[in-house]
Amino acid sequence: MASARGQFSSRFGFVMAAAGSAVGLGNIWGFPTQAAGNGGAAFLLVYLFLAFTLAYPALMAELIIGRHAHANAVSALRLVSPNRALANIGATTGLIGLVVASLILSFYAIVAGWMMAHGLASLADLVGLAGVADWLTTHALPRNLIFMGLFMVCTIGIISEGVKSGIERWSARLMPVLLITLVLLVLYVLTLEGAMEGLKVYLLPDFSRALSPSLIIAALGSAFFSLSLGVGTMLIYGSYIADDENLPVVGGLVTLVDISIAVIAGFLVLPAMYVALHNGVEIFTQSGALISEDTLIFTVLPAFFETMGLAGIIVSLLFFFLMSIAALTSSISMLEVPVAYTIENHGVDRKLAVWVIGGGIALISTVILLNFETLFGFVISLTTRYSQPLLGFMFCIYAGWVWRRDEILQELKKGNPDAGDGLFWKIWPWYVKLVCPLIILAIFSQSLG
Ligand code: TRP
Repeated sequence: MASARGQFSSRFGFVMAAAGSAVGLGNIWGFPTQAAGNGGAAFLLVYLFLAFTLAYPALMAELIIGRHAHANAVSALRLVSPNRALANIGATTGLIGLVVASLILSFYAIVAGWMMAHGLASLADLVGLAGVADWLTTHALPRNLIFMGLFMVCTIGIISEGVKSGIERWSARLMPVLLITLVLLVLYVLTLEGAMEGLKVYLLPDFSRALSPSLIIAALGSAFFSLSLGVGTMLIYGSYIADDENLPVVGGLVTLVDISIAVIAGFLVLPAMYVALHNGVEIFTQSGALISEDTLIFTVLPAFFETMGLAGIIVSLLFFFLMSIAALTSSISMLEVPVAYTIENHGVDRKLAVWVIGGGIALISTVILLNFETLFGFVISLTTRYSQPLLGFMFCIYAGWVWRRDEILQELKKGNPDAGDGLFWKIWPWYVKLVCPLIILAIFSQSLG
């Protein structure tokens, strides 16, 4: 069966695809905003620490299980189980992950649609169509529906092409564009008045805040969402890696790319916020708290871009283009989760599966948009605050307790014959067995409270 499946053709292709999945609205917007709201540099430090010591091991759990099984999460967790009961629990975990991935995509497509609309609005501004630009930036049902649909069609189009010509080719093309655009924007924003203040907040830590539990939990949640953990996305991508790849190295590269882009995005967003502040835009409430994330991106940034005249229109165009690309390389990794399962376990043709499932998710997005006030926030917290930590916990349990240790080592040795003597093998099995589940449980209990 393995030979009939798609596979990434090169290490570069895989790293680009997995990093493309990881880098998205979460990194480029979520991370910098949370950093700004949680003491800047203190948050950055804790985030960096947790990303490498906790999110990376959890990522490895998914990648190793995925590559071993060469299958989706449902089959993979069943395969590594020693008995029927554990196999059934594993398969159920995979199925829940698949539903959660679909639900995450249903709200992600809405937000990504706003990004596309704002990007187009800058284009409309550029050619003097102020009325069109106005319509594009005003929160209203028709606009939201149209752009959610447009974004879903882009996602479906890429995924229906399959692994090599679809996911890999697009990610490898779009990711470098994303990085270059980001760096150019950083260089530009740093020349503006007020930027240095943002830079100080981002780089000079206030250590009294680094140990606050809410900051640590926010940073950990941010790291897990940012690396696309818990729903089987990375497990699926792992299943497409060639057997001779050294998994801990590839996983490390993906983590590095993901974290670097978040950190670079911080160099853009924090200074940009203080430039906006300098120009009289409100970004803090009276009590000194950050205005909500939605407001920040869709009110403050356009306002900041506007104060720069014609250059602002171009910067805005670049920024929202960038956000749309980042969202697209993430959304394709979400859609691949239910699609891979349907193709492999039910023998459905890829194109058919992609259109039916993608269409179904667009329908869910439509229901959310029609009941925006009640459903939007609810779906986000149901999936990211509750489901993701619990599912991440299950993946660590299967890698740490259920799957036989010698089989894991065998899998690692395929890409590196000396894996048994390496540092990774000395630390990781322990980590994923005890430290990761405990910390994830801690987040979960906190989010319940
Ligand atoms: N990590 C992506 C981001 O930062 C979002 C993402 C893609 C994701 N696939 C996922 C989040 C699976 C959770 C689960 O935007």
